[in-house]
Amino acid sequence: MEFNREQTLSLIGSGPVHILILAPIGQDAQVIAKLIETAGAHADVCKNLADIVEKFDDDVSSMVIAEEALTEALSLLTERLTQQPPWSDIPIIILSNSRGRIGPSQRWTLLRDLGNTTVLERPLHGQSLLIALRSTIRSRDWQYVVREQMQRMNASRSDLEQKVRDRNDSLYTAIDERRRLEQELAEAKKLESIGRLTGGVAHDFNNILQIINLSSKILAQLPASETVKRERAVLAVQRAADRGAKLTHQLLAFARRQPLVPQHFSIKHKLNEMSDYVRQALDREIDLVLDLPDALWRVKADPTQLEAAILNLAINAKEAMSEGGTLTIRAENLTLPAEGYPMVQHLTGDFVLLTVSDSGTGMNASVASQAFEPFFTTRHSDGHTGLGLSQVYGFATQSGGSVWISQPARGASVAMTLPRGEQEEADRGLAAGPDDETMTFAGLHVLCVEDNEHLAEATVIVLAQMGFEVTCVHSGEATLDQPLHRFDLVFSDVSMPGRIDGIDMAKLIARDRPNLPVLLTSGYMISPERLQHTGALFLAKPYTVAELHTSLKRALQKRLSRPSRP
Ligand SMILES: Nc1ncnc2c1ncn2[C@@H]1O[C@H](COP(=O)(O)OP(=O)(O)OP(=O)(O)O)[C@@H](O)[C@H]1O
Ligand SMILES: [Mg+2]
Repeated sequence: MEFNREQTLSLIGSGPVHILILAPIGQDAQVIAKLIETAGAHADVCKNLADIVEKFDDDVSSMVIAEEALTEALSLLTERLTQQPPWSDIPIIILSNSRGRIGPSQRWTLLRDLGNTTVLERPLHGQSLLIALRSTIRSRDWQYVVREQMQRMNASRSDLEQKVRDRNDSLYTAIDERRRLEQELAEAKKLESIGRLTGGVAHDFNNILQIINLSSKILAQLPASETVKRERAVLAVQRAADRGAKLTHQLLAFARRQPLVPQHFSIKHKLNEMSDYVRQALDREIDLVLDLPDALWRVKADPTQLEAAILNLAINAKEAMSEGGTLTIRAENLTLPAEGYPMVQHLTGDFVLLTVSDSGTGMNASVASQAFEPFFTTRHSDGHTGLGLSQVYGFATQSGGSVWISQPARGASVAMTLPRGEQEEADRGLAAGPDDETMTFAGLHVLCVEDNEHLAEATVIVLAQMGFEVTCVHSGEATLDQPLHRFDLVFSDVSMPGRIDGIDMAKLIARDRPNLPVLLTSGYMISPERLQHTGALFLAKPYTVAELHTSLKRALQKRLSRPSRP
């Protein structure tokens, strides 16, 4: 290689210029290095391909390799070159070797594999090498520009990604915050309705207790001769007790804890039957329209509770139509799930949809959202406790259906789904027939089981007045000690101290003395499932004497319908 000391070219790049040299034979490497250093760049002489691979990094501006150095280990270099970052394509100057060890056919393949190569034939003038190096440095500088732009792009991309992440984070925080607020609101609403519930119960019961308190005081003080006043006081106590009983029934209905006696019956028949007294409950200016198709399915529900629900709805409608209007009761078959009924998405199967609509004032959204809550009322006049729709709600849901309010253009509409009943069951239900009014209890022996001493005392008196011979015990265990074959009926409380409660006792009696009828009573509501295998009838406390009479008759009728005692 010729090296002209007078050379004027310098090797300047955008940054420090760093050139790797591999020319293992002779003095070429040193000569080239000196030339490069003189031109103002940094030259690094490598021993072999492994060495050049090791020293090659992003800051290397170009490489000068003598062709004879491209030995079998060349793959080391080609592999390293493929690992360059996307912006990098290192320029390589190959100093050809006319006496090269590689045959001409392989030569071009090798050079192609090295990528960005320039071949300079030797012998070579120093100036030619410098010119070639300058162009490699310029091309490498462009690569550095691309690198910088890519870095900037990456930075702004990650900046953008970070911004998106930050935005998402703040969105999630906002959603969490909103959820928290919604929960707090729901909690506050729940507390508000519990407050209203307890407040309502306390208010009503205090009035009831007040009446009982004053009336009993009057009774205690009035001389026996004041019969009229005494009767009035007794009546007041009775009314107060009735009112209290109604209140707990309604509350239990809302809590879905009332003992339902579901039957399979024709809703069309029931509504036609009821239409007269629904009409009586409405004002003259209100028309009652019944829309009941012939092919209506039967329902499975407690008919007495259905009556109460229809009456509650009719009275609400009447209150909303003080100027008159129309009350429409419509029933139709509905198989769920069905389009247009998102509110009963949780139900599947056959139902009868009962809709009670009026043309009255209607409800605004806020009233409609709270109307089913117990003690919620907008009618703060006497006699309105806000328990009407709670009964409807409790009844519908406990029956396995649902209820909701819709607001037509005019008035309000309450829709209720009740599960479809069965045909044979319906017939069976009807076959039960009315009570035997002529039935007498004289000569019958009842075993009364009641742990509350005062209540036991009063019950014994009432049962004796009905004609029964009465034996009274105070626990389940004591019942089983009795000679049960001597009794015609067991009338028992459910919750009692000791190991055997009324339900256990009824089960034992059903097993050992299947012909002995059992009537259970409790102030706690007993789920119908618990009663299922006892064969017993149930009477909810508080009961009136008339209700007790009817239940006792039913229990005895049950016995009479079975084969007689052995
Ligand atoms: N058909 C209706 N039209 C307009 N508003 C109604 C209708 N039915 C119920 N409401 C509203 O829902 C509230 C709650 O009804 P709900 O039957 O539970 O209680 P109430 O009628 O106020 O009292 P109660 O039934 O104990 O006499 C009512 O106070 C009324 O504001
Ligand atoms: Mg009402």
